[in-house]
Amino acid sequence: MSQAPTREPVYLKDYRPPAFLTPEIELDFVLEPEATLVTSRQTFRRNPKGEGRELVLFGENQDLLALTLNGAPLPPERWRKESDRIVLLDPPDEFTLEVRSRIDPAANTALMGLYISNGVFCTQCEPEGFRRITYFQDRPDVMARYRVRIEADRSACPVLLSNGNPIDRGDLPGGRHWALWEDPFPKPSYLFALVAGDLACLEDEFTTRSGRKVQLRLYSEAANIGQCHHALASLKKAMKWDEDRYGLEYDLDLFQIVAVNDFNFGAMENKGLNIFNTSATLARADTSTDFDFMNVERVIAHEYFHNWTGDRVTCRDWFQLTLKEGLTVFRDQQFSADMHSPGVKRIGDVVFIRDVQFAEDAGPLAHPIRPDRYIEINNFYTATVYQKGAEVIRMLHTLLGEETYRKGIDLYFQRHDGQAVTCEDFVQAMADASGRDLGQFMRWYSQAGTPELEVRRRFDPDRQALTLEIAQRTPPTPGQEEKLPFHIPIRMGLIGRDGTPRRLQLEGENEPKGTERVLELTEPAQRFTFIGLEGGEPVPSLLRGFSAPVKLDAGYSDDELAHLMAHDTDDFVRWDAGQRLASNVLLALVGDHAAGRAPSTLDRRLIDAFAKSLDRAGEDPAFAARMLSLPSSSYLGQQMQVIDVEGIRFALDLARRELGRSLHGAWLAAYRANTDEGPFSIDTAAIARRSLKNLALAYLAYARDEEGQALVRTQYARADNMTDCLSALRLITETGMPESEAALASFYEKWEKEPLVVNKWFSLQAMIEDEAAPERVEHLMAHPAFTWSNPNRVRALLGSFAMMNLVGFHRRDGAGYRLLTDKVLELDRRNPQVAARLLSALGRWRRFDEHRQSLMRAELERVVATPGLSRDSYEIASKSLA
Ligand code: PHE
Ligand code: ZN
Repeated sequence: MSQAPTREPVYLKDYRPPAFLTPEIELDFVLEPEATLVTSRQTFRRNPKGEGRELVLFGENQDLLALTLNGAPLPPERWRKESDRIVLLDPPDEFTLEVRSRIDPAANTALMGLYISNGVFCTQCEPEGFRRITYFQDRPDVMARYRVRIEADRSACPVLLSNGNPIDRGDLPGGRHWALWEDPFPKPSYLFALVAGDLACLEDEFTTRSGRKVQLRLYSEAANIGQCHHALASLKKAMKWDEDRYGLEYDLDLFQIVAVNDFNFGAMENKGLNIFNTSATLARADTSTDFDFMNVERVIAHEYFHNWTGDRVTCRDWFQLTLKEGLTVFRDQQFSADMHSPGVKRIGDVVFIRDVQFAEDAGPLAHPIRPDRYIEINNFYTATVYQKGAEVIRMLHTLLGEETYRKGIDLYFQRHDGQAVTCEDFVQAMADASGRDLGQFMRWYSQAGTPELEVRRRFDPDRQALTLEIAQRTPPTPGQEEKLPFHIPIRMGLIGRDGTPRRLQLEGENEPKGTERVLELTEPAQRFTFIGLEGGEPVPSLLRGFSAPVKLDAGYSDDELAHLMAHDTDDFVRWDAGQRLASNVLLALVGDHAAGRAPSTLDRRLIDAFAKSLDRAGEDPAFAARMLSLPSSSYLGQQMQVIDVEGIRFALDLARRELGRSLHGAWLAAYRANTDEGPFSIDTAAIARRSLKNLALAYLAYARDEEGQALVRTQYARADNMTDCLSALRLITETGMPESEAALASFYEKWEKEPLVVNKWFSLQAMIEDEAAPERVEHLMAHPAFTWSNPNRVRALLGSFAMMNLVGFHRRDGAGYRLLTDKVLELDRRNPQVAARLLSALGRWRRFDEHRQSLMRAELERVVATPGLSRDSYEIASKSLA
């Protein structure tokens, strides 16, 4: 019965409208952990825009019990059954179909469809999980009105939820009960949700700007409900913000969020019933870090914003995923910027793009934000589709300006509310609202890869003119050898020698206009000449706010970088100048190490730059913490021909130690100045101070002297919040302080009942960059608290090891690669989605030395040759090898 999954790609060019529409569906669930009965009654109407006489209904992992058309059993010659679908042959133009099937939620380890998490029935349907619940067309352009009846055991499942509004409920004999839900908004099947279980509830209310009262309900296991207040407060902020900034109001009388332990991603935007990973919901000072608090706020907002950008206007097909995700990520980024510090938020987002998305773009899995083919769509929930997709929306915002961008958004909703649309539809609304031609801009949707910009500068002192010649080039990516030029907005200014911004007048203009503008690069190379520059050659400040996801080389001297760090008005450019300086110094150290010289001192330039930033740290502690952080090993590795694992480690170790030693007094002062006495606070300013304090503590610990270690010890012993506690524990283990083992043991003992804290404990040990890491990780897999059934736990241990432990994962004997592969192959049979994601750690094998290359390739070949391998893992491994 089980057939090898098909490995044929699906192509965007093959899109056809559905042959039938399904305006209504009634679902009836009789819930039992191992044998849930599902009855669906669907109405069908031939689609005037459709073609073909066949109707395909997808269905997987279920026993089909009965099938009737207009109340009569379907005769065998009218339909056929295949492994993953049934096909109705020439059905009438209008009819009702009833499908009865049986599913086994308790055996559902893939966490797609209906499954059980800690005794709670819940669903995940995006992208193609609904077909594990009933036979259905299961494509986002088929939108139906849902009516859902849920029946279950009353004591096991006192709470019965679905999308929309509760209509009715009642008791049944035998200790059972039922509830009826109706969602007035037609929706694609991927937004369907059901939850049933013994859940506690936090309630609140939000009044929309038009005066409607919305009930807010946040559900979790009773033990966790005390950690849900921050999520609820975040939800109200998000609802208000979407009204203020986008004019978008919530549209139902009830908004529900349920937190579950076992979930493949962060959260899901099901209409009126979001389902969340506990890791993106729970937050309490003693168990959660500041990062967790911000993350909960961000994810809550993200899923809420989907109500309009995703649910009300959805995707025509899965190739259009970035239509909802890129836009919604951009919206959540704007929200977080408005709630906290815009500059610091932007820098954090840029770090992610560069560390993760640029790496993806430079490897075998590179794809455009709208891919044109896939084998398994689950593999395309990527940094490219999400974060680069958000950068593309941001570029539109930069090109059009806030006001025109808003007009474009309004037009988009005016035209497409209630529809399933494409990326073209979105960009067309922007084009029509602005009167601009965005034809060339569309290439951002179809071409993969990170454009590289080279800037040549020529200053003519006689003419007082500065010419910038900017050239763009995008390296080849799989299947795309040649690229056409992109439409690239470059927000910029010029900083005078005296440190003040110059007024900007381009050749041909009558007078200067302001001190900042957006240059538009559309050609392979273009020249921009600024005139009227009295006072000598200014330093160009380019790509302000990281106005485009590109790499930029402007040939800055060290002095110019220092000038930008000190004087630019743009936080991103100031920070980036510092990162360039640090990269130069670190890469030179890597070179020295490779040449057999092992310097023991650090370039003064970097120490001086840090000293200056530390001097100004009081102005903005959160920004200072960014300025004082070194580039990551991922970012450094991307700038090398061959990633030099040992060299990167050497350079970072040396730089941290020497920065710690030479600026000891300043770090100590920063530590003290940013240590808050008094009660814990989660406000933005308090978070900022903690971030600088803990960074200062890290440098003090890297110096490895008694005073620093004593401070770490004291902080670990006294911390009243998880940020301070975990920072100290990380330093204890990372720098190998003698109490390392004891501290890990006491931490576990204290927190063993809090799964999210236990994840931190696993993750911290997986990230210790030493030679013993593979054995340590393997050993931890045998720990009683380790389980393969919880994706958070798997990611905490195996994911942290493979993605965040350069030295351990890439150990020369290949033990890290072997460990990952062995475990991924086991996991693949249980949860292919999570397995495939971990496997992508091997994807960049070509960037390492030959010895490591052959080891990594051998593991990938072992994966591809494994019988019964999932489509998910097959796609990642085979593309990595191609
Ligand atoms: N659509 C979800 C989000 O971005 C992500 C998700 C995808 C969750 C697939 C689960 C499964 O908010
Ligand atoms: Zn999303």
